[in-house]
Amino acid sequence: QTFYLKDYTPFGYDVESVHLTFRLAPETTRVLSRIRFAPKPDAAEKTFFLHGEDLQLISVKIDGQDVKPRLVDGGLTCEVPGAPFTWEAEVEINPAGNTALEGLYMSNRMYCTQCEAEGFRKITYYPDRPDVMSTFSVRIEGDEPVMLSNGNPMGQGEGWAEWHDPWPKPAYLFALVAGDLVNYPGSFTTKSGKEVELNIWVRPGDENKCAFGMEALKKSMKWDEDVYGLEYDLELFNIVAVDDFNMGAMENKGLNIFNSSCVLASPETSTDANFERIEAIIAHEYFHNWTGNRITCRDWFQLCLKEGLTVFRDAQFTSDMRSEPVKRIDDVITLRARQFPEDAGPLAHPPRPEQFQEINNFYTATVYEKGAEVIGMLKRLVGDDNYYKALKLYFERHDGQACTIEDWLKVFEDATGRDLQQFKLWYSQAGTPRVKVSEDYADGSYTLTFEQSTPPTPGQPDKAPRVIPVAVGLLSPNGDEVRATEVLELTEAKQSFTFDGLASKPVPSILREFSAPVILERDTTNAERAFLLAHDTDPFNRWEAGNALAKETRVAMVLDGAPPDTAYLDALEKLVRDDDQDPAFRALVLSPPSQADIAQTLHERGHTPDPQKIYDAAETFTQTLAQQLETSLPRLYAAKTVEGPYSPDAVSAGKRALNGRLLSLLTRLDGGEQAVRQYAAADNMTQQYAALAALLKAEKGEVQSRAFFDQWQDDRLVMDKWFALQIACAAPEKTAATAKALTQHALFDMKNPNRFRAVFGALAGNHAGFHHASGEGYQLLADNLIALDKLNPQTTARMCAAYQTWKRYDAGRQSLIRAQLTRIANTEGLSRDTNEMVTRILDA
Ligand code: ARG
Ligand code: ZN
Repeated sequence: QTFYLKDYTPFGYDVESVHLTFRLAPETTRVLSRIRFAPKPDAAEKTFFLHGEDLQLISVKIDGQDVKPRLVDGGLTCEVPGAPFTWEAEVEINPAGNTALEGLYMSNRMYCTQCEAEGFRKITYYPDRPDVMSTFSVRIEGDEPVMLSNGNPMGQGEGWAEWHDPWPKPAYLFALVAGDLVNYPGSFTTKSGKEVELNIWVRPGDENKCAFGMEALKKSMKWDEDVYGLEYDLELFNIVAVDDFNMGAMENKGLNIFNSSCVLASPETSTDANFERIEAIIAHEYFHNWTGNRITCRDWFQLCLKEGLTVFRDAQFTSDMRSEPVKRIDDVITLRARQFPEDAGPLAHPPRPEQFQEINNFYTATVYEKGAEVIGMLKRLVGDDNYYKALKLYFERHDGQACTIEDWLKVFEDATGRDLQQFKLWYSQAGTPRVKVSEDYADGSYTLTFEQSTPPTPGQPDKAPRVIPVAVGLLSPNGDEVRATEVLELTEAKQSFTFDGLASKPVPSILREFSAPVILERDTTNAERAFLLAHDTDPFNRWEAGNALAKETRVAMVLDGAPPDTAYLDALEKLVRDDDQDPAFRALVLSPPSQADIAQTLHERGHTPDPQKIYDAAETFTQTLAQQLETSLPRLYAAKTVEGPYSPDAVSAGKRALNGRLLSLLTRLDGGEQAVRQYAAADNMTQQYAALAALLKAEKGEVQSRAFFDQWQDDRLVMDKWFALQIACAAPEKTAATAKALTQHALFDMKNPNRFRAVFGALAGNHAGFHHASGEGYQLLADNLIALDKLNPQTTARMCAAYQTWKRYDAGRQSLIRAQLTRIANTEGLSRDTNEMVTRILDA
């Protein structure tokens, strides 16, 4: 069954209140609902349909009288009164048998829920759609020491606890947690002086991993007040860590539930990257309280209304807490690695999709990351003051509502007087626009001509020109900025902009700060790129120039067997030695583009990427760079070693990132001596992990890997790193075998999504290993997807995306992948989730 945006019809009934009673038992939990429904007088659709899946119906009463509803596919229908009535239902569910981790399930003997997008229907019969909002009162009965739900606590006693959430919400924001948990407490006083109790709930033993998350939460609460004027609205804010979770985290009202990997942090067990990610996800979920919860989505097609905006907000937060340019560069790297391939392949869809079979398949990089980019463009086009003016209007006008992208854009139109008709195409057109630039200079007048076009995507053969904000600055040939950044607004297929009064032909710096998610195409020279790497005043474009140099060098190595470009090696060496430059920035410039990125670039230019050649070029390049730096490497490495007690702050993390890059280069020359030393001396995971990675990459480190296992075997999150790292560092011909051996390890657990992703995310992420010509990687993944689909369709379906780039490769690889996709598609009893993914990937 396919659902379409155009078919939207409101539910014919208001839900005035919801009372739920849970009688907890692992295999036989009873859920009693008492719901007050009121028919909408002017409803076009009067059918009383409630969603329900995997429920055992015990009884139903309407206004106290037994009734017999008709069970239909995906729920039930029932004859109901024409006036307000009380619906009472009792159902039985099996949390312990719920391996899909959707609805109410058990993780490590603890009860927890995941209802977004459509999991509430696995808890009881209900109009499980985001535009149906109600207040919820919850009573939990059971012997669990801690029993939590949304909102404020209303009392508790021996074997029971009661909760009330005063804010009307859709069912997807419902949450319940019960188990043997301990809290790490905190508190926050809001700008209007209200004291909010904060808790991070964890399993006993994890209390020492909560301090950082708690600080991140407080910083988020303060930041949202300072920047958006938004204040928290309950007496209590709870976060819970669970080990088995399909996604990162969930913004349930007043009771956020987190994958433990996204909240638990300690210097000994978490890397700098983990710390930064945890801070961002805590902020993200907290920010949803306004962008998502107080204002929610009318239907799931509007998902980017809350996700794009909330990702945009958490990126603003991270830039403010850490380094703005570094955050921007990181985000663009992620966008290109995850969203561009989606946009360029069979899974392409607009940020607001218009159809789906299974909504869980649309929690994508396009909805989240491109959704955030679209907001960034909007902010750039209207300016900062107008942006905050529009946001203020958004919260005033739509608080308590379930909204659409149209509502969102209307707020901007009303606040700024700007027509956003054409801008709206960003929400409806899939595909990454290509922007071709040419230049002209005569008599002090410099003209840039832009041509935009977007390749066809599934279901969208023709694309209209979009509004593209292109931030441009001009540099003089001696490196001075002669024109500060200016935003050019492309609206047509082809358009020129002229800058007058220039003393000489300038060097343009185009798409500063990556002002639009497009692919810029421009004929330029490596000399000019090196010039920008040295002189651009825009840090993003300075990095971009280095990145372009790296790509050109590698592309030339792959296509023509050329040696690494010496001018580029010299530029890198100069930058690495330049202590006036931010270490984090230097680490980024020193990090080579990923092999998948090179494959994508080759494909964009009409070549068939050869993963093995791309790997060989990467190896040669890194080896050459290490040799070029040889004499200075030990000194540079030593200078960037961070001494003293570990602190996860951005400055120290930047130094460690550079130090880690240098160590990996050094390990290619010194036989691993320094890495062995660093491994032995490390008192924090960042340095321990960097040393182990450098060794494994050099096909050394067996001793350290064993020591790592012995030290951390009881820590699930650290063990995920151990599983992933071995596969990520394996040579192409050994990758599949390494992954396969690890699936036979006693600690491999199919049912734990983190562990499954550790293995198969690393396999899919090892470009040359996954795409090894033997096809073993393809087959191993398919074997395991088929097995996992029976347990956990959601995680299976997401991982199918590993095959999405298949049409880029040669006929041999294509047929190997097609065979695996077909095998998955033909599996009997395949889930709707996985079926939708494989058919979409195959069909294009
Ligand atoms: N709303 C959550 C977030 O972005 C994601 C949860 C999605 N879960 C899912 N099963 N689709 O923070
Ligand atoms: Zn979110």
